Parts: sequence; structure tokens; C-alpha cells
Amino acid sequence: MTTQLSQSFTPDNQLDLMFPSEYIPEDVKTQLHSSLHVRPLASTDYRRGHLNILSVLTVVTDPGEDAWVAQFNAMRAAPKTYYSIVIVDKATDRIVAVGCVFIERKFLRGLGSVGHIEDIAVDKNQQGKKLGLRVIQALTGISENSGCYKTILNCSDHNIPFYEKCGFEKKENEMAKYA
Ligand code: ACO
Repeated sequence: MTTQLSQSFTPDNQLDLMFPSEYIPEDVKTQLHSSLHVRPLASTDYRRGHLNILSVLTVVTDPGEDAWVAQFNAMRAAPKTYYSIVIVDKATDRIVAVGCVFIERKFLRGLGSVGHIEDIAVDKNQQGKKLGLRVIQALTGISENSGCYKTILNCSDHNIPFYEKCGFEKKENEMAKYA
């Protein structure tokens, strides 16, 4: 699906990131295996397999790199709103897990904010190694550090035990109307 970058691990200071790396809680970074690295999504991550990992979650239509980068720039242009993260395998510089938290500003709750966790996916070969848990911990940390009074998400019944392991509880119902 994507053109690959044929290079070794790229450190954060050589990347054009969606938001500062420091927003990702330090304890999540240190709990990852030394062969892995968690960081914000970068403008060149189309070439590191970002869409391939998202396709673990659902059908992904490849818009091409230019359109992908335009979407990255549009999300980054909304200040303090989109926090997309990736876990990278240092040996290959390829993405193995992804997730995003979107910060919604409200008039309720003393002009409070809510964090919406979206689009969590872990490479099939890497599932069951706590990468999903680390992605959720990182996104929840970003949400809470942004002042959100709650962090919420929608998931299938199948994934409820996973989110319970991540400290979430079932609350109310999801409604959807597709266009
Ligand atoms: N049922 C029961 N327990 C589970 C499940 C499950 N489906 N998935 C994980 N767990 C448990 C693990 O056994 C582990 O328990 P432990 O601490 O007792 O050992 C704990 O949850 C943490 O699991 P991880 O190893 O971190 O899970 P993983 O890295 O495999 O990530 C994920 C879980 C994200 C659901 C992954 O399997 C995946 O990518 N699935 C396909 C895409 C998907 O469904 N994404 C979520 C969509 S919902 C959303 O995006 C908001």
C-alpha cells in the first residue's frame, strides 16, 4: 500500500511531528521494550506503514501520500486538538501500533474538555505484548494533562475486556447514523 523509507530508526528530533514529544507521559515511554519507541505521528509516517496498521482496524482506502500529508497538516493546524501517536519498531523504523485522542472543548462543566480516543490498532504480529495498553495509557495521559474531565471511546463487545484492563468502564450506549 505504501512506499517504504529504506532507513534505520529516525529519532524524534529529525522528524516533523504533529505535537511535541514531551506531551507523551515519560512513564509510558520507559515501560516500552527497548526495541520500541512511542512518539507523535510524523509527516513522513505514510512511508512507515501508518495506513497498513490502521487497516488492522477497518477498511482503509489509500488516498496517496500528498493527500495523507494534507490531512496531517490540517489536523496539526487545529491547535491543541489532535494527538495522534505511533509505536515504532526501532529495528525496521516501521510503525507497529497507532492511536489518537481528540480534545473536544465544551460549554458545560465550567468550559471543560473531553478526550475522545479513536482508531487504536496494533500490528497483528505484535498483539498481546501490551502495546495496545501503552497506546491507551499514553493517550489517556495526554487527555488528562490537557485538563479533560473524562476520556471516552466506542468499541465492540469483543474489545470491552481490553478496555477494562486499561482502566475504562462501560457507560451508556453508542448511537450512530452513517451518511
Ligand atoms: N479480550 C480480552 N482481553 C484482551 C483482549 C480481548 N479482545 N485484547 C487484549 N486483552 C487483554 C490482554 O490479554 C492483556 O491482559 P493482561 O494484562 O491480563 O495480560 C490486556 O488486555 C492488554 O492487552 P495488550 O497486549 O495491550 O493488547 P494488544 O496490544 O493486543 O492491543 C487491541 C489490543 C488494540 C484491541 C489489538 O488487539 C488490535 O489492534 N485489535 C484490532 C483493532 C481493534 O479492534 N482496535 C480497537 C478498536 S476500538 C477504538 O479504536 C477506540
